[in-house]
Amino acid sequence: MIALAADHGGFALKEQVKQWLDEQQIPYRDFGTLDGASCDYPDMAAAACDAVVAGSCEKALLFCGTGIGISMAANKIKGIRAACCSDYFSAKYTRMHNDANALCLGGRVVGAGLAIELVDVFLHTAFEGGRHQRRIDKVAALENR
Ligand code: RB5
Repeated sequence: MIALAADHGGFALKEQVKQWLDEQQIPYRDFGTLDGASCDYPDMAAAACDAVVAGSCEKALLFCGTGIGISMAANKIKGIRAACCSDYFSAKYTRMHNDANALCLGGRVVGAGLAIELVDVFLHTAFEGGRHQRRIDKVAALENR
């Protein structure tokens, strides 16, 4: 189960990605926003990321205007490793090396075609483990300072 969330700046892109998820028969839960009205990206990030931390969702796809604000908010939540990506290499390697569990996309930055490529590789690339596990353990330790 994939958690989705967006503010108004990412709403339209979230809807386009949802259409692709439907076509791929990838199950998701949409934590909003459910219309294009102005709302605050930290509120939207929290609900979806809480579901990832609780284990009811495996990963989150988060959207705002730039992808940056919602990634900053998501990374404040213990257990979330959110990556704001607008290129294929980063979306792939943040899974392989960072075990990212949230992909953040900018609705005013990337078009739907690229966004879908990024989501596809993010959802289908495995974490490599090994030396990268040690590093993400150190990232997690920073949460407790
Ligand atoms: C909203 O206008 C915009 O600031 C937000 O979507 C996002 O881009 C923030 O990082």
